[in-house]
Amino acid sequence: MEASSLPPCSITFLLLLLLTITVTVNADSLSRRALLANGLAATPPMGWNSWNHFNCFIDEKMIKETADALISTGLANLGYKFVNIDDCWAEISRDDKGNLVPKNSTFPSGLKALADYVHSKGLKLGIYSDAGYFTCSNKMPGSLGHEEQDAKTFASWGIDYLKYDNCNNDGSKPLVRYPVMTRALMNAGRPIFFSLCEWGDMHPALWGASVGNSWRTTNDIADNWDSMISRADQNEVYADYARPGGWNDPDMLEIGNGGMTKDEYIVHFSLWAVSKAPLLIGCDVRNVSKETMEIISNKEVIDVNQDKLGVQGKKVRMEGDLEVWAGALSGYRVAVVLLNRGAVRRVMTARWDDIGIPPSSTVIARDLWQHKTLKQRFVDILTATVDSHACKMYILKPIS
Ligand code: GAL
Repeated sequence: MEASSLPPCSITFLLLLLLTITVTVNADSLSRRALLANGLAATPPMGWNSWNHFNCFIDEKMIKETADALISTGLANLGYKFVNIDDCWAEISRDDKGNLVPKNSTFPSGLKALADYVHSKGLKLGIYSDAGYFTCSNKMPGSLGHEEQDAKTFASWGIDYLKYDNCNNDGSKPLVRYPVMTRALMNAGRPIFFSLCEWGDMHPALWGASVGNSWRTTNDIADNWDSMISRADQNEVYADYARPGGWNDPDMLEIGNGGMTKDEYIVHFSLWAVSKAPLLIGCDVRNVSKETMEIISNKEVIDVNQDKLGVQGKKVRMEGDLEVWAGALSGYRVAVVLLNRGAVRRVMTARWDDIGIPPSSTVIARDLWQHKTLKQRFVDILTATVDSHACKMYILKPIS
């Protein structure tokens, strides 16, 4: 039956249905991007965080020295702009007006002065709180029930980033508690990157984009191969949920902390980059070795992470210990990681039909760790030998 021959009530019904669908789709995409307007997450955040190396042993002097070191090493110029203070920065009790108070023994000048210092270097200051009554260290109060007040305090100090943990809460779901802080931050009068840290407990990738700018998909990373690689695995499952405005977060970097080999740290950095993960350095950048610098300052790998397309790479082929990870980049390019998780050196192959390059295309390959454009042109496949617990990382660009 043609539309013109439908009874008027059916046409009205169809129009209403169409209108409902349009409104619902628009509302959904709006709410999924509620925080995009803060403009701080167009690409994954880059910076440093105190937790992996320093735990609770932090103070304003070392935070300032870290800011200085980010500048003097050139890391800031490469994009590492956030200086993020993790747990343990506040007194155990709030003041008589209910405000959080920086710990006098370690942050005597206060957070406003610290933010001013960090900003004067062209960097941004991040802080930590918790969607519970106490933070995970149990050494400072959380923000549950104080969201508006704390968000305003953070904004008044000039804070640019909030990591929000999940310990000691009231048993309600993160999806009940985290959006309260989302709204508080939106009303705080200052754009603040909102990093959700509920450890992947309630599949935050499914709802995180309407609540924050990144969401932890895993429990805490430790400085060893098994921990690192399993976090990459857990995070990969949610690849389709990452995009500009909101990112999956497999936890912070351990590179430079000493628990993995150089090749393993290269795998760590390559996987975090292709996964569009936050690149938050977790070592002491005041005393950074040449080897660590070589890894965390690899601009070609950083550029993959920061590519404007914002597509998280995925495992496109898994054959036992051998995995091919790939993700689209802007300019019709593709980032590829050939990862050997096994104990012996192996030959590995990237196939165009796995990684989304049209069949028979001729491709130029840039090796991002050798910093070399390979002389050979590749058609349909690229083959390489990859050491144990190591990877190769390429950008492939079809030329015909
Ligand atoms: C954990 C969190 C870590 C760190 C720690 C501080 O819950 O996952 O990244 O912030 O708390 O106590």
